[in-house]
Amino acid sequence: MTLLTVETIADLRRKVAEWKAAGLTVGLVPTMGALHEGHLSLITRMLGHADRVITTIFVNPTQFGAGEDLDAYPRTREADTAMIAETGGHLLFAPPVSEIYPEGFATRVEVDGLTDVLCGQSRPGHFDGVTQVVAKLLNMAQADFAIFGEKDWQQLAVIRRMAKDLDIPTEIKGGPIIRDELGLALSSRNAYLNEAELAIARQLNVVLRKAAYDIAAGGFAPDTCAAAAEKLLEIGFREVDYVECRDAASLVPVERVGEAPARIFGAAHIGRARLIDNHAVN
Ligand code: PAF
Repeated sequence: MTLLTVETIADLRRKVAEWKAAGLTVGLVPTMGALHEGHLSLITRMLGHADRVITTIFVNPTQFGAGEDLDAYPRTREADTAMIAETGGHLLFAPPVSEIYPEGFATRVEVDGLTDVLCGQSRPGHFDGVTQVVAKLLNMAQADFAIFGEKDWQQLAVIRRMAKDLDIPTEIKGGPIIRDELGLALSSRNAYLNEAELAIARQLNVVLRKAAYDIAAGGFAPDTCAAAAEKLLEIGFREVDYVECRDAASLVPVERVGEAPARIFGAAHIGRARLIDNHAVN
């Protein structure tokens, strides 16, 4: 099947209605474009769940704070379209900003609690923009499933909460983190890095993994995380937003691991990029 591209909500809805009338299931892969293997793995996974897969490309302005990289965010529509087609995606929804936020748009979607910590603290308002656009995309597509990468673990937790709280019937799935051959979690923002910065960036995974191991072996998480943050600065990261160990579902802080799944989360700046990563602890 050739990839179909639509830019309006009406066209998207028409296509989905057609598929549903034919008894087909529909999966949604929301992205901001600048696609890499991580995104393609989400499309591939979704192809295993749904008969028809929609990929969305929309660089959502409301999830970028003042001074963040909205204007610089890589836009590679032609290459993205080719990659989606090659992976086997059925439809690309790539609306202009005016289609998503028309004149007079005034509604916000906010999730309390889960958004107050980690990236919610270092990027105030970011998750309000994410939930606003994801609620709209889920509503527009009326898909059976939607998938989000686990690199943005907190985002996935926030979206799951929102979908549950708003009775959105789409089943939310997570896709595992895809890393390069040296362990760096793939991110569209890695494109900002030169060779020297990439070498430093790759240490985020190494330092977090070591800290996860130490905590799993009985270490006191706040001390281990503080030492890991220091290590990242020594290695050459310009700034560390956080290194924290938290419950994988509720995101409440964990001091020592027990039965409940815990994860270590890190966010740090190198060059023009702010990178995030996370690992299971137990
Ligand atoms: O993870 C992303 O790329 C974005 O936050 C998302 C979920 C597509 C919403 O704009």
